[in-house]
Amino acid sequence: MADEVCAVCGGSGWKIIEKDGLSGAQRCECVLKERGQALLRRARIPTNYANDSFENFSNRGSDDLNHVLLTLSGYCKEFPNVDPPGLLFTGETGTGKTHLAVAVLKRLIEHGFEGGLFFDYQNLLERIRSGYDPLSGESPREAYEEALEAKILVLDDLGAHRVTDWVEDTVTSVITYRYNARMPTIVTTNVPDADVGDSLIERPASGSGAHHRLKRSLPEMIGLRARSRLFEMCRIIRMPRIGDYRVEKKVIRRESSH
Ligand SMILES: Nc1ncnc2c1ncn2[C@@H]1O[C@H](COP(=O)(O)OP(=O)(O)OP(=O)(O)O)[C@@H](O)[C@H]1O
Ligand SMILES: [Mg+2]
Ligand SMILES: [Zn+2]
Repeated sequence: MADEVCAVCGGSGWKIIEKDGLSGAQRCECVLKERGQALLRRARIPTNYANDSFENFSNRGSDDLNHVLLTLSGYCKEFPNVDPPGLLFTGETGTGKTHLAVAVLKRLIEHGFEGGLFFDYQNLLERIRSGYDPLSGESPREAYEEALEAKILVLDDLGAHRVTDWVEDTVTSVITYRYNARMPTIVTTNVPDADVGDSLIERPASGSGAHHRLKRSLPEMIGLRARSRLFEMCRIIRMPRIGDYRVEKKVIRRESSH
């Protein structure tokens, strides 16, 4: 990218403003914009979510979704004076959890907050694990420390990983660290939890003859201790049961192409 010299400040980063007959210097917008872009890059939001924002999120005609949007806009406005400090998005697949988590992160970055970082849960665990492998090129503890120290952490798709003692210990220590320090953590998960009103009964496909089974729930996938802390450190955002937007969009497109 060629360095274009800013027309307002000529590249100095300061602009002169006149007020009440006095002149003073103020930070030029180009500096603020560049800073915002740098913060956004450092947040490492994956490309397929990079455009997700409040502006392109539809309420889908749902009062419940409007209510969620109102809550989130309040959260962003009050941040960092929010109690609890984090958000936990739960709900079915395709209901917009990741979209909204990214929208919140981006809004906070626009407001000037530093240290935002997006982590996919599965990817985080893999990176932490490969830190133990001398051949991986990953420096030990790097991803782990990033997740601990991020000023604002988005942890996407929590629980989407095979549970082992190691996984449970690792997620518990990340959550506990952030819990103790009251660090804002924004989590999404589609793992059901009976305590947010989810049914744990898996319905077999009709006619399959299969028996009802119990779904894996959050306590099973991340352990009781991590879950307990999450519930205290996050405001729970239960997504309304309005169906998978990915599917809905496909169906509408197909109908309108007739
Ligand atoms: N209300 C909405 N308005 C506009 N786009 C939406 C809305 N809900 C979802 N989407 C879009 O649908 C896709 C799926 O949404 P998203 O990834 O946020 O779902 P999710 O709840 O995180 O699902 P999963 O549990 O599978 O991760 C994305 O492309 C997202 O931008
Ligand atoms: Mg998601
Ligand atoms: Zn400028």
